[in-house]
Parts: sequence; structure tokens; C-alpha cells
Amino acid sequence: MSELFTRPEEFLAVLRQERKDVLDRLRKTKFSSLKAGLTHTQVIPYASYSPWLDDSVFSALHERVKGHTMVDIYRCHELYTLARQCAHIPGDLVEIGVWRGGTGALLAAGAQKRIALFDTFTGVAKSDTQHDTLYTGNEHSDTHQNLVESLFSSMQLECDIYPGIFPDHTFDQLPKEISLAHIDVDTRGSASEAFDVIWPRVQPGGVVVFDDYGFFGCEGITDFVNSIARNQRDAFFVHNLNGHGLLIKQLVPGSTR
Ligand SMILES: C[S@@+](CC[C@H](N)C(=O)[O-])C[C@H]1O[C@@H](n2cnc3c(N)ncnc32)[C@H](O)[C@@H]1O
Repeated sequence: MSELFTRPEEFLAVLRQERKDVLDRLRKTKFSSLKAGLTHTQVIPYASYSPWLDDSVFSALHERVKGHTMVDIYRCHELYTLARQCAHIPGDLVEIGVWRGGTGALLAAGAQKRIALFDTFTGVAKSDTQHDTLYTGNEHSDTHQNLVESLFSSMQLECDIYPGIFPDHTFDQLPKEISLAHIDVDTRGSASEAFDVIWPRVQPGGVVVFDDYGFFGCEGITDFVNSIARNQRDAFFVHNLNGHGLLIKQLVPGSTR
């Protein structure tokens, strides 16, 4: 049925109601779980503030990197603002899972620091059918170290690139003190082995950002991050609904770090 509304407030009220009806319908859609205990629905927050549209510096950077990343603008903006906030924390920036370098460049730009970048450049590693529901290995091999180097030099940013499976081949290159680590590796084995060596080096107030947290098909990551969120006494955990799980290092009373 189509009705003609002559008063703007009537039209706006109908618009709002129809939008709410559509979004509520989407929110109720449940997907069958790929793993028991990890339920998925369409997650659509109610808030609408979009700070990335008000931030002209970020927008210009995002224009430069968007062809080099598979990460959406919500997560890109969050990584950039986290890096800015971590700039004063002692330690280096680290990214495990670089692909074409987009998120790594945003982190380096946000903190105005050099970043250590780790990737096989031959695709995803350490998949295992017990934990990983859709990843089987070697996905995202459509990249090359040269693409990352040219992105960084075109943006006047600095990085050290360590090709190989992390941590097996490149652990020796991991900075001793870390302010922010972005772990974007898709499989549980890669995420858990990376976290085990990175977390002891994260400085108080520093953060580990897990990409893939909560994505359909990344149950290995979600399950692993849930287990550390439950058991890690020296961390605040934040699930921010956009596909990131954050662990922020607490200064535990009585500890020296
Ligand atoms: C989703 S992509 C990273 C996306 C990237 N951060 C961006 O801005 O779009 C995942 C990357 O992790 C890498 N990777 C997965 N497991 C790894 C491991 N154990 N060691 C090194 N690299 C790994 C893959 O080669 C792939 O390039």
C-alpha cells in the first residue's frame, strides 16, 4: 500500500518506523552455528555516530590504504585511533597478518612510529579442522612484499618486514617491548602461538587487537579469544561488536610490570 504524506513530520515518523522494522527483522535472523556455543545473528548497533566521517586526516589516509586492505572502515578507524592513543606507551608497533599492508600503514600513521610487519606472503598458515571452521590454508596469498614496501614509501611511513611463518621462522625479530599488536591471521593456531609470545612483551596500557573476532567462519579465533578473556588476569577484554576483540594490559597490583 502506498500512502501520500503531506506533512514532513508524518513522513519522517513513517521513515523511522520502517527503518526500525527492517533492522529489527535483520537482527532476528539467526544463522546455524558452525560451532556449538558460538551463536551468530546480524549484529546491528543502534547508535549512529560515525566519527570517521568527521576526521579529515583519517579520511585522507584511508583513501591511500583502502585498496591495500580487506578490513572495513569501522575497524580501520578504530586501529588508527588506538595507535594514536598508544603513541606515548613505551614499545613498538607489531602486526602479524599484513596481506597488502593497509592496516599496518594506518597503525604506523596513527602512532607516527615504525612498525614491525610479519607475514608469510604465501597465505594463511596453521589451519586445523578441529578448530577452524572455514579456513583450510593458503588463503590471501594474492599479495607480495613489494606491494607493502611501495605503499609505505608512497606514504612516507617506515616499517621492517619479516617474511615467513610467525613465530616459527621470525620469532627472533619480535620487538622486546610492544605497545600495540594487531593479530590478523584467521586461524586459531596462528593467533594462539602469536599471542603466547607477544603478550609477555606488551607494556602496561598497551593493547593486543584480534581481528576476525566474531566473524562467521573464524570460530577458531573467537573461541581462542574467549578463552583468554576468561583466564587472563592481567587484561581488560573488550568486545566492540565490529569484529575486533581487544585485550588491554592491566598493571596488576604487586607486579613489577
Ligand atoms: C586477513 S589477511 C590480513 C589482512 C590485513 N591486515 C589487511 O589490512 O587487510 C591474513 C594474513 O595473515 C597471514 N598469516 C596467517 N597466518 C600467519 C602466520 N602464522 N605467520 C605469518 N603470516 C600469517 C596471511 O599470509 C595473510 O596475509
